[in-house]
Amino acid sequence: MTDTATPETVFYLDCDTGIDDALALAYLLGTAGDRLVGIGATSGNVAAAVGAENTLRLLGLAGATVPVALGEHHPRRGSFDGGAPHVHGADGVGGVPLPESDSRLVAESAVELLADLVERFGERLHIIAIAPLTTISRALDVIPDLASRVDGITLMGGAVTVPGNITPHAEANIANDAQAAAHVLAAEWRSATVVPLDVTMRHRFEPRDTAELARDAGALATAVSAMFEAYFDFYEPGLGVRAAPLHDPLAAAIALGDVVIEQSLRGALAVDTSDSPERGRTTRADTGPSTTTVLEVGGDAAERILRGARTPRLR
Ligand code: RIB
Ligand code: CA
Repeated sequence: MTDTATPETVFYLDCDTGIDDALALAYLLGTAGDRLVGIGATSGNVAAAVGAENTLRLLGLAGATVPVALGEHHPRRGSFDGGAPHVHGADGVGGVPLPESDSRLVAESAVELLADLVERFGERLHIIAIAPLTTISRALDVIPDLASRVDGITLMGGAVTVPGNITPHAEANIANDAQAAAHVLAAEWRSATVVPLDVTMRHRFEPRDTAELARDAGALATAVSAMFEAYFDFYEPGLGVRAAPLHDPLAAAIALGDVVIEQSLRGALAVDTSDSPERGRTTRADTGPSTTTVLEVGGDAAERILRGARTPRLR
């Protein structure tokens, strides 16, 4: 759990549903349950509208009724580049057909939904960001004192002591909107935890985990398990083993305190916002608000994520 989160903490999730986002959602529904009080979809792996629809359909599989709002489509500078179909499939869910949900997006934008949640929950509200930070950055523009009014933020993103995954220097969530990332990391959050590739690449699912995820499971866990076949296909050549890293679920588990931070860097993080090949690079900085950048966690994170995503409360 981050420095300030408590069992009473409620969560807003900002995602770009995608395959690892889907596992993070299943995990959060199984562990945080009704403490997951709102979801925004931002362009990243797929367009915001596609990620929002995927999220609605996944919630429908679980019979969960969490408000879902449309977040920002284009990054703060430039335009959405089409996402990562080679990683998550053109549909963002590995080509796994998902039945249409009975639920619809809320009329509010994701920034408006977040503003409502800040009014309702204040410092009980913790933001989990597992997508490019465009929507969170816009929220900082329009919600007065957002950073100091909420419990804090846990974000999946960055690569500090390891290579990037979208360029040799930069991780996808940061590089897809470097201006937004720099803005979010420069804000004075009560608590800011960054979960970078440095730790997420070391905690993985393998086929035995997704087989267990689907064993006698509900419709959501079964669908997420099927999606991982495409994720394994993407990662297997580079990893040399059929496995896939748990980027987003690990950030969610850290935010909930279900997985404990064992090693971290404390201090400011800077983002390269230039147009150079190093755009999106995250480096330690001498000045700026202090963040906790996670380098290692304790225990078997994959097992905890698997257990949380299988929780029987999901249909
Ligand atoms: O670099 C990994 C991150 O980018 C994850 O959040 C994944 O879903 C993609 O958004
Ligand atoms: Ca994501």
